[in-house]
Amino acid sequence: MYHKELDQFPKDFLWGSASAAYQVEGAASEDGKGESVWDRFVQIPGKTFKGTTGEVAVDHYHRYKEDVKLMADQGLKAYRFSVAWSRIIPDGNGEVNEKGLEFYDNLIDELLKYNIEPVVTLYHWDIPQALQDKYGGWEDRQVIEDFTRYADILFNRFNGRVKYWVSLNEQNIFLTLGYRMAAHPPNVTDEKRMIQANHIANLANASVIKRFKELGIDGKIGPSFAYSPTYSLDSDPLNQLAAQNHEEFNAHLWMDVYVFGKYPSVVWNYYEKHGLTPDVKPGDEELLKAGKPDFMGLNYYQTNTVANNPLDGGVGEGKMNTSGKKGASEESGAPGLFKNTTNPHVERTDWDWDIDPTGLRIAMRRINSRYNMPILITENGLGAYDTLEEDGSIHDDYRIDFLKKHVMAIQEAITDGVDVMGYCTWSYTDLLSWLNGYQKRYGFVYVDREELDEKELKRYKKDSYFWYKNVIETNGQEL
Ligand code: BG6
Repeated sequence: MYHKELDQFPKDFLWGSASAAYQVEGAASEDGKGESVWDRFVQIPGKTFKGTTGEVAVDHYHRYKEDVKLMADQGLKAYRFSVAWSRIIPDGNGEVNEKGLEFYDNLIDELLKYNIEPVVTLYHWDIPQALQDKYGGWEDRQVIEDFTRYADILFNRFNGRVKYWVSLNEQNIFLTLGYRMAAHPPNVTDEKRMIQANHIANLANASVIKRFKELGIDGKIGPSFAYSPTYSLDSDPLNQLAAQNHEEFNAHLWMDVYVFGKYPSVVWNYYEKHGLTPDVKPGDEELLKAGKPDFMGLNYYQTNTVANNPLDGGVGEGKMNTSGKKGASEESGAPGLFKNTTNPHVERTDWDWDIDPTGLRIAMRRINSRYNMPILITENGLGAYDTLEEDGSIHDDYRIDFLKKHVMAIQEAITDGVDVMGYCTWSYTDLLSWLNGYQKRYGFVYVDREELDEKELKRYKKDSYFWYKNVIETNGQEL
């Protein structure tokens, strides 16, 4: 769809940026913080790039004031961050650690001092290790109650100061990588266990949303979903069908449950035929339906292009590129359903992620027409190598180009009629990229550290910092 003129961004549009506790905070065992599954997982040799950990990360825990000042000077309107569950309740379901709450109190107050809207993520992948040890974390229904109690503590504590809440961050990613690919904790490769843990996570997600509504909190809550819309390689009907399969198994499987409270019938049928159905108990369906979010949080990085993949001899799960050497990712697929192929129409990053701004518009349009709810873009960004020049500048024109085109795609989607609340880039400062070390940088603010050398963790403004400052100042009129 072409428009002669584009609509303006809404006046109260949340121009933001995001981070996650494990990736920025450091202070892994300070002030009473308990161990999380990530603190443990990164100790396994070979799991992360050069064995990197978030032990120190970018030391945001001690430098949050400096980081918030940088945001304020840039004019940022919203900052999305996550709370580390094991800071608040070190063993997951026992005593509350007041010191942990204080850290987030201070961070929130600091943000509000500069009129920056805090967007709080309840869970960004770091379940307390104690719950993993006690009952297997997301695989036991006890987690529903424990997660809801933890959320309840945050809702009550920050009520009145925080208006925007994210329940689970990328449930699809942490469960797929954690239980199917053994690339995240708890380091498992078992489809049946993944599906069971996913069902319980669905219930936990619905339970905190339900609780939020019961408390009558003045604000909005929704999950952040990693949506990579699927394209078919071409018009071959078998490839089209593979794309349809991919969309059902990688998108509808989660978003349908969030919004409609039920699994897509094609996926459920597949589960039944393969003996994979999760254990559904009486009351589950009611709970899922009661947990309808206020918005869909969208984490958008790329699209997927897929083709037909036969059952016999089809391509299976392949390794991701975590080295930053272009072309290092392996062919990947699910036999009988789809396999990923190269999209000849788009460029790729050094980590082999497709660069596709139009894909963002397509993602927003699909969410709009299937779910008909407002969208908060909770992540979007480019992971790239950056060079710190001798004079302290960083010329990341490739990032500006990436972000500019994505912001334009949002404006086009708004003009198409999509309701968008805001846009959080990933990420504010550079941070630990889980499996990819510190060399894959996303921030507006360069943090001077390397994989194995923390240096002084000094902050430097990249060119993109100034570019975004102007975008915010002009409410998106000057890109
Ligand atoms: C999202 C996560 O999946 O993508 C972030 O919510 C993550 O935590 C981001 O950092 C980019 O992924 P990666 O693997 O490049 O760090």
